Parts: sequence; C-alpha cells; structure tokens
Amino acid sequence: MNILILGSGGREHALAWKIAASPLADRLYCAPGNAGIAREAECVALDIADHAAVIAFCREASIDLVVVGPEAPLCAGIVDDLEAAGIKAFGPSRAAARLEGSKGFTKDLCRANTVPTAAYERFRAPAPAKAYVQARGAPIVIKADGLAAGKGVVVAQTLTEAEGAIDMMFAGGLGDAGGEIVIEDFLEGEEASFFALCDGETAIPLATAQDHKRAFDGDKGPNTGGMGAYSPAQNIDATMSARIMREIIAPTLRAMKAQGSPYKGVLYAGLMITAAGPKLIEYNARFGDPETQVLMLRLKSDLVPALLAARDGMLKSFDLRWYDEPALTVVMAAKGYPGAYVRGTVIEGLEAASSVEGVEIFHAGTKAESGKIVANGGRVLSVSAIGKTVRAAQGRAYAAVAKIVWPEGFYRHDIGWRAVTREMT
Ligand code: AMP
Ligand code: GLY
Repeated sequence: MNILILGSGGREHALAWKIAASPLADRLYCAPGNAGIAREAECVALDIADHAAVIAFCREASIDLVVVGPEAPLCAGIVDDLEAAGIKAFGPSRAAARLEGSKGFTKDLCRANTVPTAAYERFRAPAPAKAYVQARGAPIVIKADGLAAGKGVVVAQTLTEAEGAIDMMFAGGLGDAGGEIVIEDFLEGEEASFFALCDGETAIPLATAQDHKRAFDGDKGPNTGGMGAYSPAQNIDATMSARIMREIIAPTLRAMKAQGSPYKGVLYAGLMITAAGPKLIEYNARFGDPETQVLMLRLKSDLVPALLAARDGMLKSFDLRWYDEPALTVVMAAKGYPGAYVRGTVIEGLEAASSVEGVEIFHAGTKAESGKIVANGGRVLSVSAIGKTVRAAQGRAYAAVAKIVWPEGFYRHDIGWRAVTREMT
C-alpha cells in the first residue's frame, strides 16, 4: 500500500523509519518531511494546513493510508476531511482531538466519569480566576484552554505568580488559546507518559516513557517540546499499567464513544504518579515527540497493521510485541531554543555518529543544502539508542552525540538520570 505521513519532526522520522521497514508499505511519502525523512520516504512540499491540497495529492499518488503526526492538523479536522474524501486516515477526528485541543473539555470529561485528575475550575475572566487562586492557595497551576505549543501551562509557586499568569493569558499573551483558562491543584509525584492505541472502542497499551521538558541539565531552564526521553518509564510496572488502563484510558474511551465522538488513534496520557495513584495531567491526541523515537526503537512488531486496525475498529484481538531493552534519545537543539535561534548552520559527523552500535539518528529540523545537512528548526536531531540498560543506551547515545560536529547546537548531558540512578541502587 501507499502511505503518506504528515509532519516534519523527529517523531515523523521515527514513524517513517518504522513504516518503511514494513512489508506492507509500497511507496512511502512524507509532507513536508525533512532531510532525514528523505532517506526513508519521498518528501512532498505540501502545506498540510491546506486540506484540499493534501486530498488532491492523496488522489494523485493513490494513497491508501495517511498517518497524521502533529496535533494542529488533527484539531483542524484533517482526519474528518480525508475520510469524507474516501481516504483512510490514522488519527482522531476533530471532535475526538478535543481531548488535546481543549483542556476544559478534558477536565469536564474526567469529572463526569471519575477519571482521577487534579481538582480544577474553568474561567473566562480574571476576577473570578484570581478569587479562586486566593481561596485555593499556592502552588497552583494555570493552563490556557487551547493549543499553545507547549507554552500554555504555568506552575505557579506563589499567588503573585499565579495572578501574573492569569493576567498574561487573559491579556492575549497566548493568543486565542488563553481566552479561557483552567486552574487546577498542584500534583505531587513523578511524571510519566503512557501511550495507548485506540480504535474507538478498544484500547491497547503501547509503551511508557519519561521525558525531560526543561531546556538545561538538572531539569532547569525554560520548558521545551522535550529535550530527551527514555522508555520504559520505571515508575509504571504491569500492575500500574493495568490500573491506568482501567481508571483513566478505558473510561475516557467509553465517554468519548457515548458522546458520539469515538476516539481513534494514539491517546497519549501525561500522568502524575502520586501517592494516591495515577492522575491525569493532560491528554495529547497523537504520538509524543521525542517519545516516539524511543517507542519505535523498542517496537518489534510491524506498525502498519496496528495503525490499520486502529483505523478500522479491529483492535480487540490485536497484540504488539516489544523489545524488553530500554531505549533513550538525546535531543540536539539550536542554541537559543526554545527562544530565538538561527537556521542554516552546518551539521557534520552524522555518518560516524550513526555507526555507533544500537544508534539511530532521527532528524527534526534539518534540510539538505548543497550536499550538506543544515539546521532548520529549534529541535534539530534526536540521537537515539537501544541498550541492555538505560545506562547502556545512554552511553551509546552520548557516544554518537560526541561524534556530531555542530558548534551552534546544544543538548542536555543528563538525559535518563532518574532511571540511571534507579538502576545503580
Ligand atoms: P502540560 O503542558 O499540561 O503537560 O504541562 C506541562 C508540565 O507542567 C507538565 O509536564 C508538568 O510538569 C506540569 N504540570 C501540569 N499540570 C500540573 C499539575 N496539576 N501539578 C503539577 N505539575 C503540573
Ligand atoms: N514530548 C511532549 C509532547 O510530545 O507533547
């Protein structure tokens, strides 16, 4: 079959790498793609916000399945539009993608279905929001309702900080995303990412991961899209996984179906594992980035039948195999990220780096220019490795990073520290 992937990040490179290995894949395309993806797939210069253009390309190239990477096209209804045009698409409908697109929607769904999550209220004006914050006390968490590219959450340590965040969001600091906000209690615990594949009715757990959101070593500095990750998350064992499926994923799926917007696709639950059990921090309606890079390294089974089964409502008796070995990925970003950074700087040493045993280098913001690979985004490379332990995978990933010559880039030196510390005790 002919498959089109939408997106251009490390996540999409990992998906392309895995899908290209499937005997079911004849021609593989990616729009818009990047310089690394171009090794696995034919990159197509399409504006993926232009659904008509995507549909026209699918017809022209006889695409049998579209796999949507990022949240923006999902929330804009690309799956609805493709399916309406008779083209199979993997991912949630626009209505189902509200699990990511509106934090208030998700919180209300949790409340109505007793899915464990932090206590909260929704607000449309600053005065009642500030009164609520005064009544609850700090620390407290202020969230823009809509998509804000990872910048929509302020974990306020003080009431002054909380009020500042409320004013910033209602003053339009995050655009339309902050027209409504959610304020919720601060949860104490250790975070983990949990991925489930859903077909509208049935969900099967994929794998777990932990990511590093802060820009700098020691989990310091500003929040980013993710500077590294490893899988599995050591704070989720089989018992905890079953509990997450039962208390969080299954009731969510039932509720979405009951309200006429069954959820199909990957459901990514950001969790806090608290003393009282797992609690939902947020849902994403897609694969994580950079978590997908480690998930794909650990997936033994063919991904394509799984995506098709999710799309077709056939997951009931489906089974996926995983390697037990952990995987870890180190993100290399352009200096300045997540703030302003320059593009066009040259990256060398990629071939030597990818020859390190167990290593796969997934590209994010890269492009090819006169025979060289140049940086073309904030997060630029995802240097990934599998190993017998997290420490071994970490050693391989950093050995590869050391071979990459890119003075204008930076990376964290401590990806996986929590897991490595646990392994050593
Ligand atoms: P989100 O964009 O919702 O994933 O939030 C970004 C980060 O803020 C999360 O990964 C957490 O580290 C933190 N966070 C969000 N909500 C809470 C909460 N209720 N309690 C503690 N930390 C939170
Ligand atoms: N790594 C976080 C995300 O994909 O949202």
